[in-house]
Amino acid sequence: MENRQQAMVTGASGFIGSHLARALRGAGWSVRCLIRETSSRERLPREGVELASGNLADIASLKQALTGVKTVFHLAGRVRARRREDFFRANRGGTKNLLQAAREAGTVERFIYVSSLSAAGPSPDGHPLREEEEARPVSFYGASKLAAEREALRCREDFAVTILRPAAVYGPGDRDSLEVVKMAQRGWRFQPGGAGFTFSSLHVDDVTDSILRAAGRAGGEPAVYFLADGNSYTWEETFAILREILGERACRRKIPWAAGNSVLRLAAGLFPRSPAAFYLDKLREMSHKYWVCDIGRARAELGFSPRYDFSRGLRETIEWYREAGWL
Ligand SMILES: NC(=O)c1ccc[n+]([C@@H]2O[C@H](COP(=O)([O-])OP(=O)(O)OC[C@H]3O[C@@H](n4cnc5c(N)ncnc54)[C@H](OP(=O)(O)O)[C@@H]3O)[C@@H](O)[C@H]2O)c1
Repeated sequence: MENRQQAMVTGASGFIGSHLARALRGAGWSVRCLIRETSSRERLPREGVELASGNLADIASLKQALTGVKTVFHLAGRVRARRREDFFRANRGGTKNLLQAAREAGTVERFIYVSSLSAAGPSPDGHPLREEEEARPVSFYGASKLAAEREALRCREDFAVTILRPAAVYGPGDRDSLEVVKMAQRGWRFQPGGAGFTFSSLHVDDVTDSILRAAGRAGGEPAVYFLADGNSYTWEETFAILREILGERACRRKIPWAAGNSVLRLAAGLFPRSPAAFYLDKLREMSHKYWVCDIGRARAELGFSPRYDFSRGLRETIEWYREAGWL
């Protein structure tokens, strides 16, 4: 799929954005990555992409970076913060600035926003959510992502807007899943949300595949798509998969969710600048049991067909952690 169109990727120094920059390059796009002065270069492709210095808070830098760009892949944002205003400043405010810069740059035809299942909120009764259902985010993060989606949809007359809402993403380079795997390997079984917690998930390569498909979507009508691997998982199923990969000694000792939850809240209260404080917003999500979505629309309209289920995806991710010396 050769494509010499100029694209810009925001968030390319992050987990998903770095995979996307590589995938776009592989598909023949000219890729420009928006990078902050402070961004780590560690995950960026070593060659074949152009770097543009900029910040979501600085419209002039964004406009400059967008020179000649036809397609914007917007992944930059705050996934963890202590305060509501921090999420909103980066996610809604940053998206609004980027949209304004894209309008003023004058060349952008397509704007793809990577939102999140958190923007839609949990399923009230465990049925996989569909895009046409009303969004009811329960965290500051989710509310800020929904607000960013709405900013993008306001620009439907300016460019073709596509919104992608991935469920929990894992894969090589993901530090969140690494923590779960490390605990499992040490023998611990920690299940945020407690018994019965059920979630959708997908491998980062399937996310990048769907983003590429969204970039080739016909028609200019705005559209929203959930992304997941098509299954839903409980922690019990997840630990069974981890035991198959890591051995029987993994995940033997259970840390009761109520205890873990209390410790995190206490630590966050006592040490407001500690990592625990950054998880308080996540805990708002964890008090809801069902984080599941239906990917029928992405299958039908984007031709999305996930290649990984959790078992294969986790196995390959753990192999990557080992080879990279992370585990
Ligand atoms: N990971 C998941 O499970 C998941 C699931 C659903 C949706 N998403 C969405 O996918 C996107 C990428 O997530 P991720 O997990 O890859 O996050 P990540 O690793 O934390 O990366 C975030 C990226 O955003 C950039 N960024 C943050 N604030 C910025 C600013 N003011 N100006 C320019 N760049 C800025 C960061 O740059 P620096 O390197 O400079 O900090 C980094 O490149 C996010 O929008 C997230 O909401 C993620």
